[in-house]
Amino acid sequence: MGQKVLFFGDVGIDDTIALLFAYLSEGVDVIGIVACYGNVSKKQTTRNVRYLLEEVGRTDIPVMGGAEKPMTGEVPIYYPNVHGPEGLGPITPPPNEAAPLENFFQVISLIEEYDDLVIVNVGRMTSLATLFLLYPDTMKGIKSFYIMGGAFNVPGNVTPSAEANFYADPVAANIVMKYAERVFLFPLNVTEHAIVTPGMVNYVHAKGKAPLIKPLLDYYYEEFYKKMVPDIEGSPVHDALTLMGVEKKDICTFYRTRVAVEITGEARGLSIGDFRKSFEQDEFDGRPIHSVAISMNYFTFYQLFMSTMTGETF
Ligand code: RIB
Ligand code: CA
Repeated sequence: MGQKVLFFGDVGIDDTIALLFAYLSEGVDVIGIVACYGNVSKKQTTRNVRYLLEEVGRTDIPVMGGAEKPMTGEVPIYYPNVHGPEGLGPITPPPNEAAPLENFFQVISLIEEYDDLVIVNVGRMTSLATLFLLYPDTMKGIKSFYIMGGAFNVPGNVTPSAEANFYADPVAANIVMKYAERVFLFPLNVTEHAIVTPGMVNYVHAKGKAPLIKPLLDYYYEEFYKKMVPDIEGSPVHDALTLMGVEKKDICTFYRTRVAVEITGEARGLSIGDFRKSFEQDEFDGRPIHSVAISMNYFTFYQLFMSTMTGETF
């Protein structure tokens, strides 16, 4: 079996592609999923993840309801234009009203079951930050954290300077950057280059191992990315790249720096690292040094994505 992973996400198209990768991968074994608010509500992301698990025959994986609002105290703003009104593009998952939404406490007993658990967080960081505030000793036992968020010295995707996961709850992102150790951070610097083209989608679909990939990624490309970035050649799979990093770390090269997140004002959600070459690194407030992915090997990404999604050798 692969590396045990506890997955935190705002399960829309991106997160679902990551979970499909995990489902087909021998290198990663998801042992629980925390569904949080994000581009759509927590109620919807919980419904989406249960639908996905039904589709792939993995309803044995426990689903826990995460945060439904950010730590900023704001009412969450949803972005149905990104992943569709229900988060899964053209797919409308059936309602599942009986499913529990307030069972986050189960995360702790799940974490305690494993000795070398990795946490992957590819949505807002509210639920993960809550764990650092309430269970700091338990969190010391986590082997490492793979996190999608931030944009270092490159444009953001919700504001000129901020990436969506950091922007939506900058308080939580800053707590995680301050208290988590052994962090591998996957910002837009790399995730924007993890492009899956329509040709790749059609090939994977034809092989029949990865359900849902075609309706999800066709929608993502046609209805969102092509409209936002007309010359883009496919859809960046931000969250899948982050999860793929667990299986193959050398898919990216990493720069070691402390990270802080701007909480208010025009630069809200801005990710700050110390990229100066000729100075001692700034100690910020003594926070740990993280591994920030700054470049990606597209060929390695392509090979791993295509071989996992098709079962063929690339
Ligand atoms: O900025 C990209 C991130 O925002 C991805 O995790 C996507 O799923 C959304 O949550
Ligand atoms: Ca996400």
